[in-house]
Amino acid sequence: MTVADLPRTTIEQLEVAKSPGSNGHEVNSKVPFHMTDDLHVPTERYYSREFFELEKKHLWPHVWQMACREEDIPDAGDYYEYEIVGQSVLVIRQRDMSIRAFHNACRHRGTQLGKGQGRFPGGQIVCPFHGWRWNLAGECTHVFGREGFSEDVLTTDDTTLEEVLCDTWGGHVWINMDRNAKPLLEELFPAANILDLVGVKNMRVKWWKEVVLNANWKLAQEAFFESYHVKQTHPQIYQFDQPDDDELNRSNTAFRQFVNGHGLFRGADVRTNYGGTAMNFLESARLLWSGMDAMTLERDIHIIESVAGKVDPNDPSFAGQAIDALFKFWEDANIPAPERSTDVLKMWGGDVVMFPNYLMLPQYTNSLNYRVRPYNDDPEWCTFEVWSLMTYPEGSETSRPEMLGTFDKDDADHWGLIPRQDFSNIERMQRGMQSQSMPLTRLSQSWEMTISNWHQELDRRIAAQL
Ligand code: FES
Ligand SMILES: [Fe+2]
Repeated sequence: MTVADLPRTTIEQLEVAKSPGSNGHEVNSKVPFHMTDDLHVPTERYYSREFFELEKKHLWPHVWQMACREEDIPDAGDYYEYEIVGQSVLVIRQRDMSIRAFHNACRHRGTQLGKGQGRFPGGQIVCPFHGWRWNLAGECTHVFGREGFSEDVLTTDDTTLEEVLCDTWGGHVWINMDRNAKPLLEELFPAANILDLVGVKNMRVKWWKEVVLNANWKLAQEAFFESYHVKQTHPQIYQFDQPDDDELNRSNTAFRQFVNGHGLFRGADVRTNYGGTAMNFLESARLLWSGMDAMTLERDIHIIESVAGKVDPNDPSFAGQAIDALFKFWEDANIPAPERSTDVLKMWGGDVVMFPNYLMLPQYTNSLNYRVRPYNDDPEWCTFEVWSLMTYPEGSETSRPEMLGTFDKDDADHWGLIPRQDFSNIERMQRGMQSQSMPLTRLSQSWEMTISNWHQELDRRIAAQL
């Protein structure tokens, strides 16, 4: 199936063959610490050096990864350095405004050609050590003292920067170090298709920051693969207060797993999900926004509040009227909004997991995004980055986003209550992984199968390279 053939109308149609047990456990059995069933994850996967090295060798060099945002490199010559477990890749805006990526190592003796973010002045990449030069397309344009080298070490192959696959989707730039990788949209299927429904391509970065956590990168992101933790970890946003055995089912949250390791959870249609619940839509939106100006944006809170001036927020029709007002505001303000389908309306408060390390929690004209990477070549540390994306009025200029900084996990000035609550559990979980009592974690078949599906995809990726 090619991307052009993919169904795009509803999420149900995107739900292609994935049922528990269909992942080929036997094929994966050559992978150390592999998954043996759908309901358990061997805990060595979260701390063992051996498993971490398998990921370094067989996952990261072969998988599409979100390297940066397109607006990080707005002009020709702009570059962004993406690092992943010891590999550094330069993503470079070309003169024709296309984007290419190269391994960040001088072809002479390996010096890194760019650090962090910046611009190659005059469209020339110059090695800071001995001054070899390249154009933005990676072609070598100058070797200082060429006569001092044998032509055997200066063939075109020797001197051209080594290219990395690069493509864009949803305003993000993705790279893959495996030149034989499948096309980007094939690997992002169907996560990208679901996110297309909410208009991700229209969104731009509003802010961006990070935290370093003392936990394995997989464990950290799995805190966002399920909403089962909401009642205990985030009691303030749990909508249901009756001691009811069926509480989670009443929340109407549906969890789905897809091919390629992707996953999704989402609620019911937001217009009808707030009748007779402990919390009304206004309170819920305020709590999601609280201290972050993400998930729900401040500009949208004002609209919802203006509706509350006319309609009692506890009235069952309130959420529907607030949503109508939001779509009207976006239209009047020339903010491109997605089509108001039931699928889109169910995404409020939902979460799309994109294998291997990117997550998006979209609303209708904005999204909270996470990227998690190993930190310092250590299986028990990770960098956790957070972006707030929003859709600006059509034609408005946005500037190149600057990273706000690295903030401590309990820094209440920089993290809202919800992320602080999530971060607080992650490091405690990591400590438990090495407990003698915990060779395996136990998963709910109703609410935690995105974790299982994700790990089985990881096994498949590693097994394919062994
Ligand atoms: S290491 Fe780059 S020119 Fe020598
Ligand atoms: Fe959470």
